[in-house]
Amino acid sequence: MTALEKWQAQVRACRSERSESEEQVWQRLAQWYGDWARHNDYVSRVLPCLLACVGEQSRVLEIGPGSGAFAIRLARSVGEVVALEPSPNMRTVLEHNLANVGIGNVQILAQRAEDGLAELDDAFDLALASHSLYNIEPIDRVIGDLMRLARHVVFLMGVGAQSEWYHALHLRFCGKSPVPVASFCEFYPMLMEMGICADVEILMTRSNYVYDCEDSMLDWWQGHLGLDASRRDELRAALMGKAERRGNHIGIYGVNRSALMWIERERNQFSF
Ligand SMILES: C[S@@+](CC[C@H](N)C(=O)[O-])C[C@H]1O[C@@H](n2cnc3c(N)ncnc32)[C@H](O)[C@@H]1O
Repeated sequence: MTALEKWQAQVRACRSERSESEEQVWQRLAQWYGDWARHNDYVSRVLPCLLACVGEQSRVLEIGPGSGAFAIRLARSVGEVVALEPSPNMRTVLEHNLANVGIGNVQILAQRAEDGLAELDDAFDLALASHSLYNIEPIDRVIGDLMRLARHVVFLMGVGAQSEWYHALHLRFCGKSPVPVASFCEFYPMLMEMGICADVEILMTRSNYVYDCEDSMLDWWQGHLGLDASRRDELRAALMGKAERRGNHIGIYGVNRSALMWIERERNQFSF
């Protein structure tokens, strides 16, 4: 099996375990995602490296900006951000967040990366995909397009490790181990297979699930695990064994590894 086939097999395995499509997941989680980004530190860890390679005239391409954790901060320092975001609810949240801070230089394209990139032929200084590629089967095409379009290409993604508490929770409530999403472990060999050299840094980043109250936490996990109301008390007991109250919030606090991959087109002597 090639590295590409292993990535695709993992995407399909993960998809077949889910009761919702990728689009449905982000439709459901659009409002929540901004909170996730706020309560975690991956943006503050990665943003300085991104800002160091752009200037006020730069053009940035972002795949799956979500609620705008990167897009908003980048837009303040560059000429233009073009963002491909397929989820209508995510686009609504992003548009709202952009309007709130008066940013007008983010162009949002309502497309998936695998459909929209081929049509672009502009030059970008930076392309970024942060936690947005996990469900893309024609990933080689997307990577090739990004290499064609941008001088610096940056990927941030998980390394596929699952925390013990999540594994135990899933096993108990769903009766089986969770299938890990396609991750750096499949992605990096695929870059090598494509002849692309990336600088890699493994970051220990916060992985905090934080909520305003116990019921919000229960609602979220009930939806995530696809449980009906009859199991809510059992779920409450399981979560309260792990959750902590900090200030006005309740959450499950942890640390996870993410891989930051940085590709310089000039240093890769291949044609895309
Ligand atoms: C986990 S969120 C990440 C948001 C943001 N990049 C960040 O790091 O905070 C994933 C985002 O990728 C988007 N997405 C999922 N599949 C995509 C695809 N095939 N092409 C472009 N975006 C996609 C989702 O709609 C969602 O907004």
